[in-house]
Amino acid sequence: MAHVSDLIAEDIDLYLKTHENKSLLRFITCGSVDDGKSTLIGRMLYESKMLFEDQLAQLEVDSKKIGTQAGDLDFALLVDGLAAEREQGITIDVAYRFFSTDKRKFIVADTPGHEQYTRNMVTGASTADVAIILIDARKGVLTQTRRHSYLVSLIGIQHVVLAINKLDMVGYSEEVYNQIDMDYRSFAKEIELNNIITIPMSALKGDNITSLSDNTPWYRGETLMGYLENVQVEDVNVESGVFRMPVQWVNRPNLDFRGYSGMIARGSVKPGDLIRVLPSGRESRVTRIVTNDGDLTQAISGQSITLTLADEIDISRGDILAATEILPGVADQFEATIVWMVDESMLPGRPYLMKIGTKTVTANVSVLKYKVNVNTLEHVAGTKLELNEIGICNLSTDQLIAFDPYKEDHDIGGFILIDRLTNNTVGAGMLHFALRRSQNIHWQAININKQAHAVIKGQKPFILWFTGLSGSGKSTIANLVEKKLYSLGKHTYLLDGDNIRHGLNKDLGFTDADRVENIRRIAEVAKLMVDAGQIVVVSFISPFQSERRMARELVEQGEFFEVFIDTPIHVAEERDPKGLYKKMRRGELKNFTGIDSPYEAPENPDIHINTTKLSPEQAVDQIVNYLTHIGALN
Ligand code: ADX
Repeated sequence: MAHVSDLIAEDIDLYLKTHENKSLLRFITCGSVDDGKSTLIGRMLYESKMLFEDQLAQLEVDSKKIGTQAGDLDFALLVDGLAAEREQGITIDVAYRFFSTDKRKFIVADTPGHEQYTRNMVTGASTADVAIILIDARKGVLTQTRRHSYLVSLIGIQHVVLAINKLDMVGYSEEVYNQIDMDYRSFAKEIELNNIITIPMSALKGDNITSLSDNTPWYRGETLMGYLENVQVEDVNVESGVFRMPVQWVNRPNLDFRGYSGMIARGSVKPGDLIRVLPSGRESRVTRIVTNDGDLTQAISGQSITLTLADEIDISRGDILAATEILPGVADQFEATIVWMVDESMLPGRPYLMKIGTKTVTANVSVLKYKVNVNTLEHVAGTKLELNEIGICNLSTDQLIAFDPYKEDHDIGGFILIDRLTNNTVGAGMLHFALRRSQNIHWQAININKQAHAVIKGQKPFILWFTGLSGSGKSTIANLVEKKLYSLGKHTYLLDGDNIRHGLNKDLGFTDADRVENIRRIAEVAKLMVDAGQIVVVSFISPFQSERRMARELVEQGEFFEVFIDTPIHVAEERDPKGLYKKMRRGELKNFTGIDSPYEAPENPDIHINTTKLSPEQAVDQIVNYLTHIGALN
């Protein structure tokens, strides 16, 4: 059997071309199969004649098989049939379906309704203009209705259709309809959803889908399709004062031409307009608007263009060109909402790549203020975010970025977070506002700099970072290395897990979140010591690649050497210098590294010490030889 979605997916370009002159509406359906979601989507495909003959024939056969009454076609069979196939691949993604009527073309994002699919819904809804929230008339406003609505509000979808479905099952009762409408609106107000239209319907029987139904003579509003065909959503913004264009690339085909290409996110622009480049703050005037079809006298939001400017100023990919009347903010610390999308938890302090507009920076959550229970909207305390959880956080970036709050501009205020090791998208977020401290803390320019500190000590500063399991021999070897360096006349300092955890980090335990924070602080301290011209020997389990990499990136190239003290866990357990493995086996220690807490061994350490082959003294020789060889001890 041929499938609507497959056929169209292959021919999507052709499809969009055929209907080129019609406006496009993207919408999302929220609800579960029980609410009649599949039936509704199937019904819309059917009404818009997007089902192919063979599918219809098959549908009739299938519907008869399961004994649908009175010859009703069971549209759910069609849509669920497609869904079932899709779900055989482990990841349940968002299914997009296409159909069109004489007036408009539509893309509907069909996402599963359960709580464990929050991320799918966020993905599917991110570009939607309209959300259809389905309610089973027999059940009214449910927990899941609230959850879906909260997400719709969070994502900033402007138009909501409250589809009160299965009205045939309650005798097309106007009272039921009114009650649900009232319940929903009072809740919707709390979450700032204002633009709501309520339609009584039966997707199964076809009431109020394409024509007003005789079964609901008391309803005088629009049909669902009528609404979808007519709702005004184009946010084409022609105001010049709010012009924003993230620079996608700098177009420099030859020495005579330099243009800045991108898609206008907001507002409009004309030659002669004064624009400011952010975050640098430089200004210039637009000289030309270049496109494939020749120069333009004006360009508006949604258009892809290349701008040339009167002055030669430094502009790179990721910068924002903005009208000078209303400027975006520029900051490096923000409050934001984050939706977490992967099994591995979001840990405050851990660096992620943040893609916002056309810019990619490094960001970490400095504080998780609270999580939101998506079912009750209650605020919940937490130290990390798990899959599908939503948190309100303080976020800090490694460089200044230009932004608008997400509420005002989805393109410039919305972002995704990417894992730096796997390159997977791990979260999506919305910026609220810049934190005041962001503008008020400035780096002091210090005259006696790292170089001056190093010169007076007669050495090159660096970090020698030991990582390995508990009992692997890190402290023993690190100690001996420090002694050796000292005897060579070097100014050294040893930072050791067991010691620092008694002082600076005594508030931290051994959860993943605490270990990340432990290492973040140590990395910062080590960096300060490098600035002071010191050679720093660091000895911590430091179980995660991500934080070791962060530590490496805090200092300059050639100032960080990772030493992997490689001891198989059974050997460490036999040695058990502190009796911790025994304690753990007695059940008195939880989250023990290598047992019930992970250890990510370095893939490419600068120095790899195999302690089953080398004595501690031989290990020291290997390390000092390496440092000498690469010139770190000159
Ligand atoms: S890290 O994982 O955050 O880098 P760190 O090196 O500071 O750990 O501390 C590890 C030391 O704490 C170990 O050497 C051991 O003495 C002690 N310790 C106590 N509980 C644990 C545990 N659950 N897992 C690992 N080490 C522990």
